[in-house]
Amino acid sequence: MKILACTDGSEKSRKALKEAAKIAECLNSEVTVIYVEEFIPHPADIGPYFSEESFRQFEERNKEDTARIMADAVKIFDEQKIQVKTLLKKGHPSETISKVASAGGFDMVVIGSRGLGGLKKLLLGSVSNAVAQGIEASVLIVK
Ligand SMILES: Nc1ncnc2c1ncn2[C@@H]1O[C@H](COP(=O)(O)OP(=O)(O)OP(=O)(O)O)[C@@H](O)[C@H]1O
Ligand SMILES: [Mg+2]
Repeated sequence: MKILACTDGSEKSRKALKEAAKIAECLNSEVTVIYVEEFIPHPADIGPYFSEESFRQFEERNKEDTARIMADAVKIFDEQKIQVKTLLKKGHPSETISKVASAGGFDMVVIGSRGLGGLKKLLLGSVSNAVAQGIEASVLIVK
């Protein structure tokens, strides 16, 4: 069984990764952790409102966030002695996760119910909602 575990660095996604590690241990599964970095347009493409300098700082911070999120994810699996692969993508999170899930032949996607977003009223965030609705494979939504 191939599992795709989704992280955005949030507490809920860490919980999802722990669940994925548990399942992988029980079923002797292969796990891939995915993080999708959102695309940042270049200032030349969006006009004068965003300076080269602030764009550079934004990119730098993004790079640091990505490294931290991936290292954090790998640590969760290392602690459980579960082998894990990592996949870093750039693009639209739910579309990218859905594409990877089908193209990569994954049997199950494990995802947090919510993530880093602010509004916590709804049960699901936009990414978990779109992935759960959009793919053929089973989806485990970790609450
Ligand atoms: N960029 C991403 N890359 C990989 N997985 C992600 C990404 N964003 C969210 N996820 C996964 O989806 C789960 C739910 O996050 P989601 O973004 O749907 O909720 P939210 O941030 O609370 O709401 P919203 O983003 O709609 O404001 C996360 O716990 C994580 O597992
Ligand atoms: Mg989100």
